[in-house]
Amino acid sequence: MEIDKQLKKVRAFSYAKMYKDTTGHGFDHIQRVVKMSTRLLEQESADRLITLSAAYLHDVADDKLIDDQQSAQTEIIAFLQKNAFTNKQIKKIIFIIQNLSFSKTLEQRKPDLPAEGRIVQDADRLDAIGAIGITRAIYYGGAHAEKIYDPSFKPRQTMSKIEYRNLHQKTIINHFYEKLLKIKDMLNTQAAKQIAEKRQQIMLSFLDNFKEEWNCEIKNFK
Ligand code: ADP
Ligand code: NI
Repeated sequence: MEIDKQLKKVRAFSYAKMYKDTTGHGFDHIQRVVKMSTRLLEQESADRLITLSAAYLHDVADDKLIDDQQSAQTEIIAFLQKNAFTNKQIKKIIFIIQNLSFSKTLEQRKPDLPAEGRIVQDADRLDAIGAIGITRAIYYGGAHAEKIYDPSFKPRQTMSKIEYRNLHQKTIINHFYEKLLKIKDMLNTQAAKQIAEKRQQIMLSFLDNFKEEWNCEIKNFK
């Protein structure tokens, strides 16, 4: 089967799984991750079919989104087999989507991602920062009944995976300090690091303005 035909099938499979999501992992997120991965592929040497398939599938078996991770994974494997992916390709794609997430990188032994995984990880992370990142954090926070802000909450500096999962001091603004502002220093590729600079500034400026308004600090007001 031609690569573009395979990718079309993967896209349709991903769409069927993701379009209903209302927590910020919807198909629009998937499409941006695929588009950004395509851009990063121009700068990096990596396999296009593996990279873009992993981009389409990276959230389909996420344990935050589905109850039965094992059966979601089995379904992905069966789907890929049916669409002429080799066992070697399937193994690589599954490894990438299992080891991509932020929480994985908090584990003691960080998984070594192949070039394709490093691209998709960067694309996924770039979608969590900047103006889109701000929007997704607020959207996710609302969907999970988080508070907007509580100045008495202090962000934790170092966290184990379990602590991260069980964070009880959840506010949307705190999420920026605990995760989003750190992303720019965790990126793999040079291209992604460059793109992250502007997005970091957008978040910092948003936070400054947010706190100014929260405290009713009004400049040049008589
Ligand atoms: P990953 O796939 O790397 O594990 P997540 O699924 O945790 O990432 O995050 C998906 C989106 O939801 C991101 O944009 C992230 O910033 C946002 N998000 C995750 N957790 C929270 C939270 N506690 N509060 C606000 N936004 C969150
Ligand atoms: Ni994602």
